[in-house]
Amino acid sequence: MSGPLRIAIAGLGTVGGGVVAALQSKTLEDRAGRRLEIVAMCARDRNKKRGFEIGNWVGDTHALAKVDADVVVELIGGDDGPALTLVEKALKAGKHVVTANKALLARHGARLAALAEEKGLSLKFEAAVAGGIPIVKALRESLIGYEVAAVRGILNGTCNYILTQMESSGRPFNDVLKDAQAFGYAESDPSLDIGGGDTAHKLALLAALAFGTMPDLDTMAVRGIAHIASEDIAFAREFGYRIKLLGIAKRSQNGIDQRVQPSMVSAGTPLADVHGAFNAVVADVKHAGPFFFDGRGAGEAPTANAVIADIVDIARGNMGPVFGIPARALVPLPAAPADSATSAFYLRFQVLDVPGVLAEIAGRLAEWRISIESMIQRGRAPGEAVSIVMITHETTYAAVDGAFKTIAVSDKVISPPCMIAMEAR
Ligand SMILES: NC(=O)c1ccc[n+]([C@@H]2O[C@H](COP(=O)([O-])OP(=O)(O)OC[C@H]3O[C@@H](n4cnc5c(N)ncnc54)[C@H](OP(=O)(O)O)[C@@H]3O)[C@@H](O)[C@H]2O)c1
Repeated sequence: MSGPLRIAIAGLGTVGGGVVAALQSKTLEDRAGRRLEIVAMCARDRNKKRGFEIGNWVGDTHALAKVDADVVVELIGGDDGPALTLVEKALKAGKHVVTANKALLARHGARLAALAEEKGLSLKFEAAVAGGIPIVKALRESLIGYEVAAVRGILNGTCNYILTQMESSGRPFNDVLKDAQAFGYAESDPSLDIGGGDTAHKLALLAALAFGTMPDLDTMAVRGIAHIASEDIAFAREFGYRIKLLGIAKRSQNGIDQRVQPSMVSAGTPLADVHGAFNAVVADVKHAGPFFFDGRGAGEAPTANAVIADIVDIARGNMGPVFGIPARALVPLPAAPADSATSAFYLRFQVLDVPGVLAEIAGRLAEWRISIESMIQRGRAPGEAVSIVMITHETTYAAVDGAFKTIAVSDKVISPPCMIAMEAR
């Protein structure tokens, strides 16, 4: 057995605290093949009460980067600032890096991977995508021989919790969000989660692993869930669907289409049955898949265990390229033109119940060659607001966007129309 693996940990919050507590309480020597020793730790506040023993404290990340260690574990967060500086310094100083930081890798992953590989070092990030689900290792190693056609996933537990609660309670988005904040499922500033940004970071990493491309946020279409109304959830159920926020990366003849969007998923399919704060990923793999992975996407224990799996890999000398193929072979993502992507859609229009309104909407849709598969209209008293809901046949996103622009200006339409792609039917 070789000498101990010396670990320096920056960030002692939910994930970092879990990693330290696990390393202090578990004996992983047999599994890792050597002792795992914490030689330095730091966070912002030395005096904060934490549920584990504080030892080998260093003043800040600059001091931590200089410690004689084999691995630096970055668990601070953020796509720049101290996390980025620490990871760069650690790699330049010849130290392996483990991180759970999807924001950092989605922005700087290709460059950091190149730096790590030039130096013959590991940069591992299992905890960064879907927390406790070992999807990074699966795509990077187990599925490496296959051609991946698509990855799609429920990658944000906060959004899935909110959508699940809206469905089970019938309550509106804002009420459920407040509860989610009170129960600790949502941040006080929830915008990164509900706006789809967090899912986008994770999807960028999944797409890089699946397609051998550089993580690319800039060409990704991102929509969040804040506009989803209780009646969308109820109509979805009536049509036999559930609404899920999905991150989707698909290969097509036009390139790779990456998007984050609320999506109609057929009830009874595995993705539709992922409830609450759970995450799931489906990998559509030629000649073998689809493979379905689900589990807890966040929280101390699952995320800390994913970090520990990376540390154990390094202790065993299990290296390999950061994104499954050498960083110098990663190509810029050949983004499919956003307008060329197609889907069937759920469309909801909030209109005045006056003669001619349905004909006007149908006419506008026809101008964009959008044909309707099914429709529901719920009437109230004449002259009041009603919802018209349609499922379309396959059409382009561009056609729906174009039709919406012309429909939204009608004086019979009283709020912006809602569109949700029918993703998994
Ligand atoms: N929470 C999850 O379930 C989860 C799941 C997957 C991935 N992640 C990722 O894991 C990372 C950490 O998340 P978390 O939830 O553990 O965050 P957190 O609970 O907010 O912890 C952040 C830690 O970083 C420390 N910190 C902040 N600024 C620092 C600085 N300038 N120098 C040194 N330490 C600093 C904080 O110190 P103090 O404690 O002194 O304030 C705290 O210990 C993020 O990249 C996140 O995206 C989290």
